[in-house]
Amino acid sequence: MPGLVVVGLQYGDEGKGKVVDYYGERAHMVVRYAGGANAGHTLVVNGKKTILRLIPSGILNPDAICVMAQGMVIDPEVFAQEIKTLREAGIKIDGRLFVSDKASLILPIHIEVDQIRELGANKIGTTKKGVGPTYEDKIARRGLKLGDLRDLDAARTKLWNSFYYWTSAYEKQLNNPLMSKQNIVEAAEILLPFLTDTSALINQALCKGKNVLFEGAQGTMLDIDHGTYPYVTSSSAVAGGACTGAGVGPTKINKVVGITKAYTTRVGEGPFPTEITDAFAAELRTKGNEFGSVTGRPRRIGWLDLPDLEYACMVNGVTALAITKLDIFSGLESIQVCYSKGTATDFKTEITEPLQAYETLPGWEEDISLASRFSDLPKNAQRYVECVESYLATPVCLISVGAGRSNTIITRDAFV
Ligand code: IMP
Repeated sequence: MPGLVVVGLQYGDEGKGKVVDYYGERAHMVVRYAGGANAGHTLVVNGKKTILRLIPSGILNPDAICVMAQGMVIDPEVFAQEIKTLREAGIKIDGRLFVSDKASLILPIHIEVDQIRELGANKIGTTKKGVGPTYEDKIARRGLKLGDLRDLDAARTKLWNSFYYWTSAYEKQLNNPLMSKQNIVEAAEILLPFLTDTSALINQALCKGKNVLFEGAQGTMLDIDHGTYPYVTSSSAVAGGACTGAGVGPTKINKVVGITKAYTTRVGEGPFPTEITDAFAAELRTKGNEFGSVTGRPRRIGWLDLPDLEYACMVNGVTALAITKLDIFSGLESIQVCYSKGTATDFKTEITEPLQAYETLPGWEEDISLASRFSDLPKNAQRYVECVESYLATPVCLISVGAGRSNTIITRDAFV
């Protein structure tokens, strides 16, 4: 069976949690390959809201093995908290959750530096979880890998490299920069039982023909290489990041499901060509509950941006589309879709208002949250989906019409 990547095509928050939850039901293994606690996958299972930031959403499927691969950056405190929450909810973790010993360790100093920078004029609007500075340490070859926690004396020596670097840059502003002896012992206690060579584990599963689902975090427009740089996260969020971040060859990825909301949202700074800021945007924000699941920040709102999605489909090699939150459009007289302009990643068209071209499509009145087949949708909702499908020349495999598992329309099998 194939390796399937599920990836966000916009600025994160596309509703990956729900889509991964759906495909995770059929997966033998669910792997997260990038990012850290900057992600927040909101899942509604049996009516109960659960937010996971680090552990793959697949953990809720008792038959799935879950992997946090080496492309990730891991904050031991958040990890410990999630383990606790899941255990309290009666979810079995031991023997089902594996963490790469090559993943990077987030230190308190990374979080503090991230917070300090966000007070400055060049702020990115980060989640302040220490993600950027940890990746900086990794690329500069002074970071700590989780496997370093196996030898605490050596780990403490390595810590100094990072400490010297950041204190020389931010000396006056740092309060409590060094991970204390106590902290590092605790981090080791929490993480060591889960550490292993996860690439071997994943490749074995793929070789045995198992379904392996690679769960993307953030979104294509936040990717370090392909997003709206410098207003991006510091990891490879695109589908290709699954290869480098999890240690599997490109030949092992068979399918890529790209997720887009029916509209667009973004948190943090940076270009957003189809943004709307009027009272209608506020209405859509409330209706769609568009507030960050990690930081609670109100998300910026905009119409669907087809040229950006076309670009995202290209750089991810998307084989099928999942459209989420279509139900939020119910009750609108008309809907706008952006058809033609440069992409948000094109520096020349960073502020693209004059170049934007919108088409207005008719809306629909009906509540669509109980639709279970494509044919149950009102004609204009069908037309909206078909318009996206035909512009992107990519078939839609899933339409989400509500938060619950049951509010889902499957139009084709994404694994085949
Ligand atoms: P960082 O990843 O915390 O460094 O933040 C960099 C940028 O990515 C900021 O604009 C964040 O708001 C954004 N970002 C990071 N993770 C997510 C996510 O999971 N959803 C949406 N935006 C995110």
